[in-house]
Amino acid sequence: MRNFLIAGNWKMNAGPAAAAELLGKLREVKPDIQEEVDVLVCPPFVSLSMAVEKLQGSDIQLGAQNLHFEDNGAYTGEISATMLVESGCTHVIVGHSERRQYFGETDEIVNKKIHQALNYDLVPVICLGESLEQRKSGSHKQVVAGQLKAALEGVDDNTAPDVVIAYEPIWAIGTGETASPEQAQEMHEYLRSELAELYDEEIASHIRILYGGSMKPANAEELLGQPDVDGGLIGGASLKAVDFSEIINIADKLS
Ligand code: PGA
Repeated sequence: MRNFLIAGNWKMNAGPAAAAELLGKLREVKPDIQEEVDVLVCPPFVSLSMAVEKLQGSDIQLGAQNLHFEDNGAYTGEISATMLVESGCTHVIVGHSERRQYFGETDEIVNKKIHQALNYDLVPVICLGESLEQRKSGSHKQVVAGQLKAALEGVDDNTAPDVVIAYEPIWAIGTGETASPEQAQEMHEYLRSELAELYDEEIASHIRILYGGSMKPANAEELLGQPDVDGGLIGGASLKAVDFSEIINIADKLS
């Protein structure tokens, strides 16, 4: 019942020229996917309009990597939800660990951003994940459940099914180290049970939970093959059209 979502987080890579090249290649190599796989790319802000141009006539959706929680005003350097909608975005990544770690985003800020995204019909892709120390000390479930609850504070039953969760263990991001399929499934299953507590079973069964952290063609099949893994949030491998398209293919095959 849950379509796979294969999402590319380009991070601070690919300005307009490189974005045009990457999306051109992706459209060349991407398989004709079935309706069960949704594909999303999240380029940097400055490449969004180029992406709209290059994605015309394609079923690939467009997202941003961040937004501000206010409508507009004196927030130098920030980008609002309406600007993203006007730029062709349907999704926005919120609370990525790099934003939490390097830009001081707290659970409270993440929550405000999620409300702002939902107010403007942008699907928030909400990132959660524990550090290596937290995993080693055995507090990973508690940490991630705390982030989940804080992120969804005040999000009601009507809008909750629209959100996407991305479990991204920090120790697996960009390190080449991946959570094992068992570790991913254990956390995803746990998060779904937490969602059922926060809402109900029905809503929890609708919410997609993506895995992120060094997902690549070589490990995608076993990760996506887990019952509670509903897709991937892919950094490094989304910058290579062939790899990203191969992951889409694998999701298609498993659908
Ligand atoms: P990675 O990044 O695939 O390069 O590990 C994933 C992410 O941070 O979203």
